[in-house]
Amino acid sequence: MTGLQEFALTLLALGFCQGFQPIYRHEEPELTAQPSKFGSLWPLPQKVQINDVSFKLSVSNFQITDAEESSAGASCSILQNAYRRYHEYVFVGSKKQKLDKCKRSDPSELTELQVWITSADSECDGYPSVNSDESYVLSVDQPVAILKAPKVWGALRGLETFSQLVYEDEYGAKSINLTFISDFPRFSHRGVLLDSSRHFLPIKVILANLETMAMNKFNVFHWHIVDDQSFPYMSRTFPQLSQKGAYHPYSHVYTPADVKMVIEFARMRGIRVVPEFDTPGHTQSWGKGQADLLTPCYSGSQLSGTFGPVNPILNATYDFMTMFFKEISSVFPDDYVHLGGDEVDFTCWKSNPDIQKFMAQQGFGQDYTKLESYYIQGLLDIVTSTNKGYVVWQEVFDNGVKLKPDTVVHVWIGGGSDKEMSNVTAAGYTTILSAPWYLDYISTGQDWQKYYKVEPLNFNGTEEQKKLVIGGEACLWGEYVDATNLTPRLWPRASAVAERLWSAKDVTDISDAFNRLSVHRCRMVERGIPAEPLFSSFCPKEYKGL
Ligand SMILES: *[C@@H]1O[C@H](CO)[C@@H](O)[C@H](O)[C@H]1NC(C)=O
Ligand SMILES: *[C@@H]1O[C@H](CO)[C@@H](O)[C@H](O)[C@H]1NC(C)=O
Ligand SMILES: *[C@@H]1O[C@H](CO)[C@@H](O)[C@H](O)[C@H]1NC(C)=O
Ligand SMILES: *[C@@H]1O[C@H](CO)[C@@H](O)[C@H](O)[C@H]1NC(C)=O
Repeated sequence: MTGLQEFALTLLALGFCQGFQPIYRHEEPELTAQPSKFGSLWPLPQKVQINDVSFKLSVSNFQITDAEESSAGASCSILQNAYRRYHEYVFVGSKKQKLDKCKRSDPSELTELQVWITSADSECDGYPSVNSDESYVLSVDQPVAILKAPKVWGALRGLETFSQLVYEDEYGAKSINLTFISDFPRFSHRGVLLDSSRHFLPIKVILANLETMAMNKFNVFHWHIVDDQSFPYMSRTFPQLSQKGAYHPYSHVYTPADVKMVIEFARMRGIRVVPEFDTPGHTQSWGKGQADLLTPCYSGSQLSGTFGPVNPILNATYDFMTMFFKEISSVFPDDYVHLGGDEVDFTCWKSNPDIQKFMAQQGFGQDYTKLESYYIQGLLDIVTSTNKGYVVWQEVFDNGVKLKPDTVVHVWIGGGSDKEMSNVTAAGYTTILSAPWYLDYISTGQDWQKYYKVEPLNFNGTEEQKKLVIGGEACLWGEYVDATNLTPRLWPRASAVAERLWSAKDVTDISDAFNRLSVHRCRMVERGIPAEPLFSSFCPKEYKGL
């Protein structure tokens, strides 16, 4: 008897199975993936024309090269690395063949993809930004396929698209059809939030997800790096923060070298790294390594021994933040840092007599949102002086804090998020949406469809207001997620968000999406990513484990 049979019998003996209905079988329509006229492209490009003429590709006789006219040459490491990566992806699963020098050229064989960066500054040595040009035009034809892009960022997206056009014919030969694609993203901010505080995420897992983000044309890694539970970021200025605040001071930290590696790995894939250092709430772990940073709470007239949010009434707090964010601004090259500002619990502030005195002095009455705003205002001035822009969670806006015009307000509260989008944009702020895309909430069934059906601009507002929505983020909070389950929980569910943020507004056909996403998911699996299934099905090449 197998363990499972034994388990079933045990259940039966306990009477658990009486009246048991296998309801899960009735919940889903019988979906089987059909070929899409768009092949397995994901996210769907803006303009696609795939023809029936097909060419063969062979691993020994295909190369990706710089076009002669390209402004980026052999010294452009972003492109050279990408050529190697995508050559592997194009031929993933195919056997290595010996180079056959005597072979005649076969007119039905495609032997070259030329990459042509058209603008004088390829941005090869730069970092991607919210204004990066990710557009490209791809023509797959004889004698060579040509990928044209103004900047390297578009070339990266186009290389992914090219690799997605390659399929195996019925004899297992790599093939690609005569194709013309012209493409650009609908939204410029397409992010994934990972949380390395609730659980420490090994660097390997972060890199694997950056790689998968590139397969889905995401371009922002929102690194929710610290929180109440742990402080894994190793600060050069304040080493005690991770010494005392990480789950473990050596094995569960991100060293400066680790952080550098993540940023460079992301840059190679056209992905920005936006770190989040959330204050004044969500900071319990900060308090362990930085004395007097947090507010001491009182129980009656006695100190209770517990601590609340960052103490907003001490000058030392602002001195600390000045030095800390000076470091952050030099470690993280992105133009933006996420400052959090969500879910501040006022209980402790209310209990503290010094805070009460300060409230009275400032004329705040009993309105603790005013105290929160006082703190955030001070913090924003500090971060502004480091020449960074900032992203804040919506509460900062809701509490009426004065924000710089280029502040990005991050909308996350589920109910009424359309009204919130209206309000934020009516006030003239740029915004990103996450409320419908909290992927840490799990349920059975094809919940990717729910994420897919979201229309970010579906709120009451003028054209001007809609233009202020620069994108959104899929969030995978870490309470129930670590290296064991992160990747399958995130993919392909986040792929639904990826297409919503990249493709045209009218790309809403669920069954075509299912057809393409099914193959896209198997492609991720073939590339070594344990992306979970959409529904009963199989992949030609199943996941083999690590
Ligand atoms: C590619 O071409 C083949 C014929 O060579 C055709 O059967 C197939 O449908 C084409 N694929 C797409 C996505 O149009
Ligand atoms: C804090 O800083 C303010 C403004 O610089 C100053 O007026 C005040 O005296 C300082 N408070 C303390 C306790 O040092
Ligand atoms: C939007 O603003 C209106 C008017 O100020 C306010 O009544 C409403 O509560 C706000 N809605 C949200 C979701 O914040
Ligand atoms: C827009 O406003 C109208 C009238 O106030 C309301 O009926 C409608 O439901 C709103 N639409 C959205 C998407 O909020």
